[in-house]
Amino acid sequence: MKRYFILCSFVMAPLLLAAQQVTLNPYNYSIDKYLEINSAAVASAHPLASKAGVLIMQQGGNAVDAAIATQLALAVVFPEAGNLGGGGFMVARLKNGSNISIDYRETAPGKAHRDMYLDANGEAQTRKSLDGHLAAGVPGTVAGLFAAHAHARLPFAKLLAPAILLAEKGYVITAAEAAGLNRKREDFLRLNTLPTAFVKNEPWKKGDTLVQKELANTLKLIAAKGMKGFYEGPTAEKIVAEMKRGGGIISANDLKNYRAKVRQPILFDFAGYNILTMPLPSSGGIGIQQMLGMVEKYPLQEWGFHSAKSVQVMIEAERRAYADRALYLGDQDFVKVPVKKITDKKYIEERMQSFTPGIASESKNISAGNIAPESTETTHLCVIDKEGNAVSVTTTLNGSYGCRVVAAGFILNNEMDDFSVKPGTPNLYGLVGAEANAIAPGKKMLSCMTPTIVLKNNKPILITGTPGGSTIITSVFQTLLNDLVFKLDASHSVNAPKFHHQWLPDQVTVERDFPDSTAQALEKMGYKIVKGGSIGRTELIKVHANGKIEAVGDKRGDDSVAGF
Ligand code: GLY
Repeated sequence: MKRYFILCSFVMAPLLLAAQQVTLNPYNYSIDKYLEINSAAVASAHPLASKAGVLIMQQGGNAVDAAIATQLALAVVFPEAGNLGGGGFMVARLKNGSNISIDYRETAPGKAHRDMYLDANGEAQTRKSLDGHLAAGVPGTVAGLFAAHAHARLPFAKLLAPAILLAEKGYVITAAEAAGLNRKREDFLRLNTLPTAFVKNEPWKKGDTLVQKELANTLKLIAAKGMKGFYEGPTAEKIVAEMKRGGGIISANDLKNYRAKVRQPILFDFAGYNILTMPLPSSGGIGIQQMLGMVEKYPLQEWGFHSAKSVQVMIEAERRAYADRALYLGDQDFVKVPVKKITDKKYIEERMQSFTPGIASESKNISAGNIAPESTETTHLCVIDKEGNAVSVTTTLNGSYGCRVVAAGFILNNEMDDFSVKPGTPNLYGLVGAEANAIAPGKKMLSCMTPTIVLKNNKPILITGTPGGSTIITSVFQTLLNDLVFKLDASHSVNAPKFHHQWLPDQVTVERDFPDSTAQALEKMGYKIVKGGSIGRTELIKVHANGKIEAVGDKRGDDSVAGF
């Protein structure tokens, strides 16, 4: 109780301004899966992060301020994926009609090279791109947050305040977080050269308080010195020193030279809606453009939600889009990607010519189109503010707790595994890639992250996205169809069982609660059905024409919504 009052005196006193005040009590909070409100909302992977975003809006911040504060809070309260040591993408639709996308994906360090994960026999050593120092790309998150801040209203230091206090004073962890930290205990011990906040003598349990003093100091340096407080000075020195002790290659110059990029977002039409989503180096925007385009002419709604007929068409669209991803997609700043051709409406339609209703295609016969790539530890957040600004952000460390190496109090990513370590060799998610996604210094590894906003009559009506590695694109694809075509309510659009096909391996993974009758019908058509764990942890905000806002946090995690 005492700790709560200490925190209140630091955090709450200046924030007790608005009516319907959201409270931020790190020692006693609930997980709220659904909210119906009228002004503003945040949906994210952790209740305290969602509340931090809402508090910032109640202090006069807009949706971009809230998205920044929520990401910073996630870096503290959701260490398995929230981060300073990773990267991400932001897509936003501002009330003035501008569409924005910011790319703060990690880059390969300057000393990285194409064959850095191959042994003397040319065989891929895939653990090296996943475990420890050599797996880390140059972190982009802090640069991305500062790039986003150009569209925010409050001083950056104010957006850091909730995160700093959550790190400094600690917060109570959930059962899922305790289990995650316990699962990685041996990794934290084996892969770090210094003690970390994530390991204690006894196993973690629900209700324990995680205090991250070193992370609080790192956040304070950012508050005091801006981007240089991270990419230069003591924090950069700590990252480089940890790299040197552990055999990593991120240098002071890699950090100093990192820049986020403002990109032209993808905007396309589907069934009378405009879909605003992330361009390369995300493969997700192109992926959903292709998949939605491939299914648009089929009467899915008439065939019915989760009917074998609808699911088959969707699987075949997924197969074909992932085949294109594997061959063509990579960082466009480094390789030529035929984006225009593979997103051309005619090309997309032609991709389904080889589809036969009632019979499974075979991936060995479906190569990329003929024209002249977690565990799943990424995290998504959505924000809408009272003025109608909408923000959709997906960030990642790649695998759960990234490469498990801690520097300056935060965990570093293992995003190097999202490159094609060796063309044709599957990565953590079983995704294969080709030359387009080969490693090169400064290049960005291909991502599946798909932060997305749907517009109707120029106004945001859906804000969504999810973690899930290779399943991100299919989760977003299905969430969009669940709402826009199958007309499911907001909670069902998120929580209904999902299925996934990624070309290779040639199988359909279905969640445990996926209907058995549909799975059996698909097996009769020739599909290999594999029952797996969860697919995605989707956040969704739905804005109705009458101004009503629904916010949904996925049942698959501690995801939680807040608003007013
Ligand atoms: N690390 C997962 C992704 O970016 O797709």
